[in-house]
Amino acid sequence: MATTITITGAGGQIGYALLFRIAAGDMLGPDEKVRLRLLEIPQGMGAAEGAALELQDGAFELLEHVEVTDDPAVGFDGANVALLVGARPRGPGMERGDLLAANAGIFGPQGAAIGAHAASDIRVTVVGNPANTNALIAASAAEDVPAERFTALTRLDENRARAQLAQTLEVPVGSIRRVPIWGNHSATQFPDISHATVDGHPVIEALRERVGDVQGWLEQTFIPRVAKRGAEIIQVRGSSSVASAANATIEHTRDWVRGTDDWTSAGVVSHGEYGVPEGLVTSFPVRAVDGTWQIVEGLELDEWARARVDASVAELVDEREAVRALGVL
Ligand code: NAD
Ligand code: LMR
Repeated sequence: MATTITITGAGGQIGYALLFRIAAGDMLGPDEKVRLRLLEIPQGMGAAEGAALELQDGAFELLEHVEVTDDPAVGFDGANVALLVGARPRGPGMERGDLLAANAGIFGPQGAAIGAHAASDIRVTVVGNPANTNALIAASAAEDVPAERFTALTRLDENRARAQLAQTLEVPVGSIRRVPIWGNHSATQFPDISHATVDGHPVIEALRERVGDVQGWLEQTFIPRVAKRGAEIIQVRGSSSVASAANATIEHTRDWVRGTDDWTSAGVVSHGEYGVPEGLVTSFPVRAVDGTWQIVEGLELDEWARARVDASVAELVDEREAVRALGVL
């Protein structure tokens, strides 16, 4: 049986960077056949249809079928995996509340359509921003789907953090492990290196030799660089991150389905872990076991780290309040 994967915003930039890698087996492995559903709005249908033609021309042996639609009922029908990429970007003069409202109008109906039409094992990765709150909105609208099946992408932030550490320590990125992101996929996020290792040794010790004042480096260099990397990419590239976001989406979803051998980061629903209010979709250190994300519990957070986590969680609480005020949740 093939896996049915729905990609919203499939005619957009990240969609284009995702489709061919999924068809090539990068997400679900070289033995898993895939059926792709490209869900767009009418304005994006041409680009999605063009991508579908190119998928055909790629002659991917794992690709069983491609369907392009602007009807969520068709797009999510029987979906096992949904990558919710399409979102309303912030336009000129748009306030945060307007952005939340516009995206609630997308992710509410999509969540409802997932509840009504997707397969019972549906797993949803929300990429479109504001990703955490969009995931919360979609989860709330999806009747009979456990909230744990809705996740927000923070893997890109973790990858950025690991890459910055690797560059600073002049080691291969693969030698850096356990760098969880806490909180929101936004500038308030907390990339936490307190448990990180480089080739199995504490990163903090290696950093002390390299940068001296580790705390100063974290506060003035590392955390702002990671947390504002999205803005840096927009400034340098003239458009938001695409290939790195698609890569992180693939890694997040692959790990969720196939399992992890160590911690990673994902925005998942809180049950009160680490004092995070229940129901918020928050980034935590996680492991994937038997197709389920499990929050890594029992980690020590010192006062400084606690304050960082609390600040990002407070932003998520504010976003939830703003959405509630719209009558959406
Ligand atoms: P894009 O503008 O190139 O593409 C978005 C596509 O979504 C468009 O084709 C549009 O027609 C489509 N779309 C809009 N509303 C839709 C709906 N209701 N249903 C289906 N499709 C819809 O944007 P992009 O560069 O691909 O980025 C997509 C989103 O990903 C943005 O919100 C961006 O901020 C976000 N993003 C998130 C991360 C992350 O780490 N979480 C990283 C990078 C970008
Ligand atoms: C990113 O982290 O690169 C994006 O979320 C930035 C953005 O605003 O699209």
